Amino acid sequence: MAELLTLTPPNPFDVALQCETDTGIATLPLSQELSFGSWQRGIPAEYWELDAEELTRRIRMARATLGSRVVILGHHYQREDIIQFADERGDSFALAQYAAERPESEYIVFCGVHFMAEAADILAAPHQRVILPNLEAGCSMADMASDPDVRAAWAELGEHFGGTEDIIPVTYMNSAASLKAFCGENGGIVCTSSNATKVLQWAFERGKRVFFFPDQHLGRNTGHALGVTLDQMALWNWRLPNGRLGGLEGEALDRSRIILWQGHCSVHQRFSLTQIEAARAKYPTAKIIVHPECRYDVVQAADANGSTAFIAKYVAEAPAGSVIGIGTEINLVSRLAHENPDKTIFCLDPVVCPCSTMYRVHPAYLAWVMESLVRGEVVNEINVPDETKLHARVALERMLALK
Ligand code: 13P
Ligand code: SF4
Repeated sequence: MAELLTLTPPNPFDVALQCETDTGIATLPLSQELSFGSWQRGIPAEYWELDAEELTRRIRMARATLGSRVVILGHHYQREDIIQFADERGDSFALAQYAAERPESEYIVFCGVHFMAEAADILAAPHQRVILPNLEAGCSMADMASDPDVRAAWAELGEHFGGTEDIIPVTYMNSAASLKAFCGENGGIVCTSSNATKVLQWAFERGKRVFFFPDQHLGRNTGHALGVTLDQMALWNWRLPNGRLGGLEGEALDRSRIILWQGHCSVHQRFSLTQIEAARAKYPTAKIIVHPECRYDVVQAADANGSTAFIAKYVAEAPAGSVIGIGTEINLVSRLAHENPDKTIFCLDPVVCPCSTMYRVHPAYLAWVMESLVRGEVVNEINVPDETKLHARVALERMLALK
């Protein structure tokens, strides 16, 4: 039986700079995981009290029985007790690509969040069935852009500019399938944090302006890297009632090249310039690397930024003895510290919140969906409606086709 990881990364920082969670986020029985847990009510009571060891044993048995009929995909932010089962682990781009290119297995069990499983369902072959272990595992950023709000904003933009022909809608992967479909229908495209630059270039070759949602920070950071000035970026406040142009003056819209949706990730928005300054003061040789969902000033002050896969690669390729401060979710940072004992890897945020929605994929849910498959029962299937799938696939395939 593979060992469960106990994460104790080397950390030279004093208490003020330490992540509270650096010693690992141990899995408790589902019934006791109160801090981040959001129960999916349907899970049978027999799973509520099982500890991590027992769940590991049961998942392993189910998986051995199912063999190649099932593939388990794991996003980098999943906890160790889940990631140990991932046939493929990766960033949201790599996992979508996997789903698009590997029709072998009948079931794709997606250990990640809802929008990722939806993308897999859109891209997978028709005979493949996608399962999300806990249907409550969403993404608070994705929830900031609802389909009616985005369509209403689009209509307002059309009225203001006398049409939308020159506006290219770009949705971050972290969005509902219906918004990917909206982009597919309106000459737009999807991006992830690993290809946002290429995607924005693609969009600017086709239109004067980009309407970017839901993450303002990824849009701003990418636009800036491409030479769009902050003055040419307008921030659309979706909380205002319709008819108020998202709180923007007509002039600000007229000079805009990117219209940014006012969405954010609550995990990444916590990283600050003050944390980077404190880290550099303590460790002058430290490299600082952050996810582009962090604020503009944080990304500007960092040495590098990129997707979760980029961060993992950066750390793996750094020379022994490197000191690297990271601004992203704690499960990934802890894993990188554990896997790179010859380097000092630490999280920039002293009081780190894991992504609470990623954390909802407790091993009890994985055991439940896997054992159900053994019995021939599919639970928690993700089924994007056909019409949505059709248009969303257009926007996703435009992204996948970019080299
Ligand atoms: P990646 O595409 O970099 O894995 O990011 C997904 C995500 O949700 C980050 O918060
Ligand atoms: Fe969503 Fe943020 Fe969690 Fe990523 S880290 S899944 S953007 S809430």
